[in-house]
Amino acid sequence: MTVIAVLGAGKIGEALLAGLLQGGRSAEELLFTERHPERSAELTARYGVAGVEVTEAAKRADVLVVAVKPQDIEPVLAELAPLVGPNSLVVSLCAGLPTSLYERRLPDGVPVVRVMPNTPMVVGEAMSAVSPGKHATADHVALVTEMLATVGQVVEVPEAQQDAVTALSGSGPAYFFYLVEAMIDAGILLGLPRAVAEKLIIQSAVGAAKMLAETNEHPVILREAVTSPAGTTINAIRELEKHGVRAALLAAIEAARDRSVELGKAHE
Ligand SMILES: NC(=O)c1ccc[n+]([C@@H]2O[C@H](COP(=O)([O-])OP(=O)(O)OC[C@H]3O[C@@H](n4cnc5c(N)ncnc54)[C@H](OP(=O)(O)O)[C@@H]3O)[C@@H](O)[C@H]2O)c1
Repeated sequence: MTVIAVLGAGKIGEALLAGLLQGGRSAEELLFTERHPERSAELTARYGVAGVEVTEAAKRADVLVVAVKPQDIEPVLAELAPLVGPNSLVVSLCAGLPTSLYERRLPDGVPVVRVMPNTPMVVGEAMSAVSPGKHATADHVALVTEMLATVGQVVEVPEAQQDAVTALSGSGPAYFFYLVEAMIDAGILLGLPRAVAEKLIIQSAVGAAKMLAETNEHPVILREAVTSPAGTTINAIRELEKHGVRAALLAAIEAARDRSVELGKAHE
């Protein structure tokens, strides 16, 4: 039995616990740590999983999933350091923290896998990118991939690409929320009631996302299929091009990547 402990069962940690249970793991195979006793009791009542101290989690679990905020990492590493060894596996979900930080603070040989997930994990639709640290093997990556597949899709990337991943899929949901918000405003401008505009756009987003995911067609092909000669869509596309929306997206995502690089430098 592989025991998995989630250290910091906040939004992401709780979503992973729920996914692991749904994916077939029993409550006995799982542990979590939380700072607030009320939150801990609430999670145990909801999932039947035991809440323990970080030290106990480190002693009992084979896999330690770190899901605290990046700024809370230091005390967690200090508690883990005397208790983990090469037979443990540390999985970091913390945005921007390199595997080298864990490798420096933990005993030599502890395998670390870094993951960049995103918020749709709370509805089982995360996009997660995994990168092995210097002591992690293909088996470690396979185990982490299988764990994360219970809450969405998973890809493996070299750690050097994690800043690009952060900018693309880490922040990605925010770009879609922003677009949806702007399109709802457009509906208001055209005189639609807010509730109707919201429903029209959210369902269009869900439908478009499902078509992208399920038809395997390139987005250009899907867009061309609704862009008829002298029709309405091409008039909208002309405005999007005129206002530089494509260039704005390229620049925005590049700026997010640059900020991720900058934040990462603090941990070198
Ligand atoms: N949310 C996202 O979109 C997203 C995307 C990618 C990656 N991530 C990463 O996922 C991690 C978790 O994010 P989140 O949004 O789930 O944050 P969150 O809701 O704040 O969850 C973190 C949890 O860890 C607890 N915690 C902090 N220090 C602890 C300790 N020493 N022992 C036990 N529990 C401790 C916190 O308790 P308190 O309430 O007491 O602080 C909180 O419940 C972050 O590192 C973030 O970078 C998040």
